[in-house]
Amino acid sequence: DYEKKIAELKSKIKSFPDFPKKGILFWDIFSAISDGTTSTLLQNILVQTVKTKFPQVEAIIGLESRGFLFSFSLAAELGVGCMPVRKKGKLPGDVVSFKYDLEYGSDVLEIQKNTIRPGLKCLIVDDLIATGGSITAAIHLLKSCGANVIGCLTVIELESLNGRKNIPEGVPVHSLIKYD
Ligand code: PRP
Ligand code: MG
Repeated sequence: DYEKKIAELKSKIKSFPDFPKKGILFWDIFSAISDGTTSTLLQNILVQTVKTKFPQVEAIIGLESRGFLFSFSLAAELGVGCMPVRKKGKLPGDVVSFKYDLEYGSDVLEIQKNTIRPGLKCLIVDDLIATGGSITAAIHLLKSCGANVIGCLTVIELESLNGRKNIPEGVPVHSLIKYD
C-alpha cells in the first residue's frame, strides 16, 4: 500500500553530513534515482499522489533544477503541460520575473509569459522544501501571471525549518517524506 511504498522510498534516500557547508545535513534525491527500481517506485508514488490530492491539475511547474527531475515525467504521465521556473536569463521570449530576498542578497525567478493563461490550475513540484523560499517565490511569480496555484508537491520536507509557515495561505503543500 501507499505507506509501505513511502517507507521503501525513504530507506533509499541518503544523507551527507556537512554538505555543502559544515553543519548542514544534505538529503540527496539523486541517491534514490540512481537505482532503477526506486525511480519507478518514486514516479509511481508521485503519480498516485497527484491523482489523489490534486486531480484538477492542468499544468506541472518544475523549479530549477532538481524540480525538473519530476515535473516532466509527471506531466507526461498525466498528459498535462510542463513549464519551468528558472533563474534569470535562461528562458527565451517574453518572461515574467519575480525578485526575492535570500539570506545574503537576492535572486530572480522567471517563467515564460505566454505559457500561463489566467486561471490555469498549476501544481508546483520540487525535490525538497527547506525554508520554503523557493516555493513561495514561485507562487508569487505564478500568481502575478494570473495562474491558479492549486498546491505544491515535494519529495522531501525538512520540518525543523518550518518552511510551510512561509507559504502563502490557501496553497496546500504536500510532501512524501519528512525529516527533522
Ligand atoms: C534546493 C532544493 C530546493 C530548494 C529548497 O535547490 O532543490 O529547490 O533548495 O530550499 P528552500 O525551501 O529553502 O527554498 P537549490 O537552490 O540548491 O538548487 P538546485 O535545485 O539547482 O540544486
Ligand atoms: Mg532546487
